[in-house]
Amino acid sequence: MRFLVTTGPTREYLDSVRYLSNGSTGATGFRIAEEAARRGGDVVVIAGTVSAAPPAGLEVIRVVSAAEMCDAVLSRLSSSDVLIGAAAVCDWQPAHRAPRKLAKLDGLEVRWVPTPDILERAGAQKGSRLHIGFALEDAGGLSSAAQKLARKNLDYIVLNGPEAIGSRGGSYQLLARSGGMWHFEYLTKEMLAALVIDLALQGESALAR
Ligand code: C5P
Repeated sequence: MRFLVTTGPTREYLDSVRYLSNGSTGATGFRIAEEAARRGGDVVVIAGTVSAAPPAGLEVIRVVSAAEMCDAVLSRLSSSDVLIGAAAVCDWQPAHRAPRKLAKLDGLEVRWVPTPDILERAGAQKGSRLHIGFALEDAGGLSSAAQKLARKNLDYIVLNGPEAIGSRGGSYQLLARSGGMWHFEYLTKEMLAALVIDLALQGESALAR
């Protein structure tokens, strides 16, 4: 089974030194990639500007911006059986990037435009590939996660809260295209990775334990 995994934050530069990003470390996607490889998968990781150390022995392609991550994913889609989008992709990028460092006296007025939605674009050419996404939502984000599952043409979406960033684990909910829903009170990122790979390899029967 060939796995394509995105992880970590993207970074959207507005001038030569300043950027918009978030505190995602990349740990979740790296644990998932490791688990997939441990279970015999061929794994390619597309990593944003991660602070976690990439696992040794895995093919890791480094990108910076959402647009770069999008190109890297789309060009490898047709040679993947499973796409797992664990990256914390920035939702906005500056309409224009200044070619030099803006000076304080220039003032700062930036028009932000949406980044390409990688999973949505990949979802338009999904075929029989399995697509799993993540949704980081504040409390009560279930309906928003369900909308993302449909809009991005995903098979499964893992819902977690902001406390997941930089932590060892947390509480997770899993929504399936089939309408199934599962709640996990506390999982470490390693436990979550095992669950996601069980799901990819065995389908929902893996959850009936
Ligand atoms: O940011 P959002 O809540 O929509 O992210 C949900 C899922 O979509 C995540 O799996 C994330 O990796 C993915 N995503 C993406 N491209 C974006 C934004 C998010 O693939 N521009």
